[in-house]
Amino acid sequence: MRVLSGIQPSGALHLGNYFGAMKQHIELQEENECFYFIANYHSLTTIQDPERLRELTRDVAFDYLTMGLDPEKVIFFRHSDVPEVTELAWILSTVTGKGLLERAHSFKDKTAKGLGVNMGLFCYPLLMAADILIYRSDVVPVGKDQVQHIEMTQDMAGYFNQTYREVFVRPEPRLNEAFVVPGVDGQKMSKSYGNAIDLFGDPKATKKRIMSIKTDSTPVEDPKDPAQCNVFALLKLIAEPEEAREWERRYRVGGLGYGQAKKRLAELYEEKFGSKRELRAQWAARPDDVEDILRSGGRRARAVAQEVMAEARAACGLVTAKH
Ligand code: ADP
Ligand code: TRP
Repeated sequence: MRVLSGIQPSGALHLGNYFGAMKQHIELQEENECFYFIANYHSLTTIQDPERLRELTRDVAFDYLTMGLDPEKVIFFRHSDVPEVTELAWILSTVTGKGLLERAHSFKDKTAKGLGVNMGLFCYPLLMAADILIYRSDVVPVGKDQVQHIEMTQDMAGYFNQTYREVFVRPEPRLNEAFVVPGVDGQKMSKSYGNAIDLFGDPKATKKRIMSIKTDSTPVEDPKDPAQCNVFALLKLIAEPEEAREWERRYRVGGLGYGQAKKRLAELYEEKFGSKRELRAQWAARPDDVEDILRSGGRRARAVAQEVMAEARAACGLVTAKH
């Protein structure tokens, strides 16, 4: 099975990214042919500082390698090493109705929050569809917020195939158990909402952040509903299942203060992620090796993309000179 996913270099990765997407990316590398890329073209819609974009791109690579991505098993690359995707995005735009893009939640949410929307953000689903279709990907592991984009990709593959001929494969989204990871304020955790717990945050600041997670005012002695608690939502993801069940029981019987659950969450965070700070520093000290990994991934990915692009161009009658 061919698996593909992209992750934007638009800020430090957080627990939402890890449990919503990255964890399953890494698990899937064992049994599948995986293509994972750092979506730097996408980040241009929000990051317009070249040095920062370069830095964030490297950071995503360090984060993935630290958390266990194996470049021997995965084709790991930068978006911009396969410029053909932007060409395919254009072609897809010519078979896609404007109404489809107007229905995209991500752009509607950003507009509703008063954030400026450039054409790149509006056209984002076209580029994302191109990212997926150009490798004939079967499965796309993502968090819930991205499912609509994949459904749009299915539609666009259909529009192209019906207009011309069957060139593209219909991809399916794949979610894991952490559909939506809440941030410290209870909203979806997101870099852009200022409510994130970073994967490799400073230990003290992270602990403080965990202790600040929003909870309700149920008195300590009363029973509590774990399903309504932001702290438990994170504990459940990070703790072993047996421990998570024990916390669930303690919530339900009462006598538990949220502070206790937060403290344990902070400990578990340090065990799982804090313990990897050192490994991350080691990757960060080898930028040339990381560059080699990304370059070689880019070459392999581009070879696949160029073949599919040649078919797509031929299907729509675009004639190009042979290079
Ligand atoms: P952000 O909202 O912080 O900008 P991205 O949009 O870059 O995050 O998301 C990268 C990946 O992580 C996507 O697959 C997305 O679905 C997943 N993801 C992000 N935030 C969460 C969350 N709070 N819960 C579950 N998955 C998430
Ligand atoms: N839109 C995704 C996000 O914000 C990133 C992404 C870009 C992606 N292209 C993709 C994910 C293709 C899966 C497949 O998280």
